[in-house]
Amino acid sequence: MKTLFLLTLTSTLFFSTFSQEASVSSRQTNLETYIVFVEKPENLLEPNLHDWYTTFLPETTSSLSSNQPRIVHSYRNVITGFAARLTPQEAKAMEQKEGFISARVQRSFSLHTTLTPKFLGLPRRPTKLGAWNASNYGEGVIIGMIDSGIKYDHASFSDKDMPPPPAKWRGRCAFNGKQTCNNKLLGARSFVSTADRGTDLPWEEIYHGSHTSGIAAGCPVDGANVFGQANGTATGIAPRAHLAMYKACGDFCDEGDALAAIDAAIDDGVDVLSISLGPPRPFPFYNDGVALGTFRAIQKGIFVSCSAGNAGPWASTVINDAPWMLTVGASTIDREVRATVKLGNNVELHGQSLFLPKDFHSQQPLPIVDPAATGKNESAAFCAKGSLKNIDVEGKIVICQIGSEGTEDMGQEVKNNGGAAMIVLNYQPGGYTTFAYAHVLPASYLSYRDGLVLKDYLSSTQSPTATISFQGTLIGKSSQTAPRIASFSARGPSLQSPGILKPDIIGPGVDILSAWGVSIDNATKPFKIESGTSMSCPHLSGVAALIKSAHPDWSPAAIKSAIMTTAYTFDLNNNPISTEKNVSATVFDMGSGHVDASRALHPGLVYDIEPDDYIPYLCGLGYSEQQVRFIVQRKVNCSRGITSKPEAELNYPTFFVTLYTGDQMTYTRTVTNVGRPFSTYFSKVSSPEGVAVEVVPSVMRFKEVKEKASYTVTFTRLDDNVTRSSNVGQGSLVWYSIGDDGYKVLSTIVVVFV
Ligand SMILES: *[C@@H]1O[C@H](CO)[C@@H](O)[C@H](O)[C@H]1NC(C)=O
Ligand SMILES: *[C@@H]1O[C@H](CO)[C@@H](O)[C@H](O)[C@H]1NC(C)=O
Ligand SMILES: *[C@@H]1O[C@H](CO)[C@@H](O)[C@H](O)[C@H]1NC(C)=O
Ligand SMILES: *[C@@H]1O[C@H](CO)[C@@H](O)[C@H](O)[C@H]1NC(C)=O
Ligand SMILES: *[C@@H]1O[C@H](CO)[C@@H](O)[C@H](O)[C@H]1NC(C)=O
Ligand SMILES: *[C@@H]1O[C@H](CO)[C@@H](O)[C@H](O)[C@H]1NC(C)=O
Ligand SMILES: *[C@@H]1O[C@H](CO)[C@@H](O)[C@H](O)[C@H]1NC(C)=O
Repeated sequence: MKTLFLLTLTSTLFFSTFSQEASVSSRQTNLETYIVFVEKPENLLEPNLHDWYTTFLPETTSSLSSNQPRIVHSYRNVITGFAARLTPQEAKAMEQKEGFISARVQRSFSLHTTLTPKFLGLPRRPTKLGAWNASNYGEGVIIGMIDSGIKYDHASFSDKDMPPPPAKWRGRCAFNGKQTCNNKLLGARSFVSTADRGTDLPWEEIYHGSHTSGIAAGCPVDGANVFGQANGTATGIAPRAHLAMYKACGDFCDEGDALAAIDAAIDDGVDVLSISLGPPRPFPFYNDGVALGTFRAIQKGIFVSCSAGNAGPWASTVINDAPWMLTVGASTIDREVRATVKLGNNVELHGQSLFLPKDFHSQQPLPIVDPAATGKNESAAFCAKGSLKNIDVEGKIVICQIGSEGTEDMGQEVKNNGGAAMIVLNYQPGGYTTFAYAHVLPASYLSYRDGLVLKDYLSSTQSPTATISFQGTLIGKSSQTAPRIASFSARGPSLQSPGILKPDIIGPGVDILSAWGVSIDNATKPFKIESGTSMSCPHLSGVAALIKSAHPDWSPAAIKSAIMTTAYTFDLNNNPISTEKNVSATVFDMGSGHVDASRALHPGLVYDIEPDDYIPYLCGLGYSEQQVRFIVQRKVNCSRGITSKPEAELNYPTFFVTLYTGDQMTYTRTVTNVGRPFSTYFSKVSSPEGVAVEVVPSVMRFKEVKEKASYTVTFTRLDDNVTRSSNVGQGSLVWYSIGDDGYKVLSTIVVVFV
């Protein structure tokens, strides 16, 4: 059985491009959970679905079977089919049944982890572009979280001042006894089907779901901090939106459970789905539970925000990359919890630590020891458990490299052997990304480059020394510019749909403070700082809720377009957004750029997509009619030239064009005016080097709101005797209006030269 992963970063870094597919042994020998796809007879009514699914089961249940029911989940929305515990022989035998299409063993998914509202530009002085004003904090919108459960009684989920549920809400609350939901947390249910994933109550064991829920829609909580750091009012992005928890995960999530959770959320009437989990690597959309389930969601008008995954910084690691999802990468915010290492030669290196020891004498230089240099034990470089026992670290600052050990475990090993403090050295792919961890002893997490400076110093002297001083929370004057792409944030281009630019957007995902289930610092209101695309995804779910609240009639694609075309690509110092390597980010690192929540409410124009528009796109991917049918859940005809179109023809808010020598390609886009009536938009192109870009018409005039207009863009590959530094070119097309509104509708252009 394979697993889906929650997309929080643990303090352990992954070295492999994709984390290993967790192999989950079935507790019953031979019985595994299969996702079974079947074809519905025309005349079958929905209430009979479960009974009909049962007819596919083996008539003679084998001796291996237990008392557990064979059918784990009967799906109503996400697919025509069910999840069932079967032996391989039984699954094979089902192939003979009328209406059977296919069956495969489910995968395992992983989960991918406050100041952030401010960083997104939300609480502004009253201007007409301010996203937070008296009438819009996400009111009336329900965000469905597919996650690991929720600590229902956390202060972030109090319903003080919350209005009652919207009339459309049809969900329920499935806690035990006195535990209840409220006007903030409307519903909570568990779809976890195996005991090793946690209880069947929507209660939270790992707190991932509480953290993500708090980011999306937590209510304001004063004095939120960890160890006194990042102190302030913790607030979700849409503090007046409602939440509904659909628990599908413990440490991991089974695909069948995640599908059941999405299935229920669709029935319950949520407006936004927030999915911070995903498969271990990308799969074709017809074979990917998240892609299948979320297509049904967007057919019902539900917006879907997904984490891009934590397998960065390597290329083509992005998951959750179907065009109907918003695929969210992660970047830093302008806050650090600084721990400065001052070397014996007076060079200062600014690292981070969440733990600020009170009794550590920062003025007193201590000797530094690099266990790697002692040659006594290979794993001592990483301060692995038991590796420092024969090394003299007593009273010293010990250097530990990021490897497969968690930073807390490294610190514990140093502490156990009498070390006074620890310097964590980032590994090379981690670049400039540093994390504020709650270490068990005085410590500082340094960037890879600062690590090199430290190593130079070590080799320059016989008796290296340093001090570490703890400066606490710094906001807006970080030594690192922000936003910067996080090292772990998964990168494009997409493997499943190389003609659609992914990720779509980046949002805050490094050192994010949000609700936690237990206190790690004896605080009365438990909060924790976590990192991952798990954390950036719910920021965008919250932004989507704000837009949905202001514009209830906008489709998921329109909301997505609004977010993407208003994104920014410059950091707080007005330099192009950079990556963990301190080089300019490419479109494969950040998609359209960093979300700007205020501007996203007022995009001027949107690129809308109807669910059926994905059919020619899916046919164009080369999927068979059967495979397309899996996704859209009805018969399709992929006849060439009629219903099959190249990816670049999808009405997406970005352009991804492949040009062979001498190629000229023309694509059409249709925009809808959602700004003012009687407005005029002018086009401005920044052509990628070596390409001529022509937009026709170059001016568009609208008389009414909701009016549509189409234009074409022709890309012509120019002289090919130029030597290119790269086979990828970047540019942009902006439609801007003149006047008070000053709308700027930006589409990123990517050209690949073949
Ligand atoms: C956090 O800030 C509040 C004021 O906003 C203050 O009353 C409180 O003492 C601070 N807590 C810490 C631990 O700094
Ligand atoms: C080397 O480190 C490992 C832990 O990775 C430990 O088990 C082993 O005992 C150490 N060997 C020596 C000689 O210290
Ligand atoms: C929390 O309180 C317990 C009991 O008073 C104490 O032993 C522990 O050290 C405290 N933890 C922190 C992080 O302050
Ligand atoms: C607040 O936002 C709503 C929705 O975007 C808008 O209709 C309203 O005019 C805004 N109010 C103010 C005072 O800016
Ligand atoms: C990052 O790069 C910029 C420009 O290339 C440079 O000015 C800056 O000093 C670099 N930052 C660090 C921390 O090295
Ligand atoms: C698909 O459409 C084409 C053109 O309209 C038609 O010739 C063909 O028979 C159709 N195929 C199916 C399976 O309906
Ligand atoms: C490109 O170079 C080839 C030979 O290297 C030459 O024959 C051709 O004319 C050149 N094309 C242009 C447009 O300069």
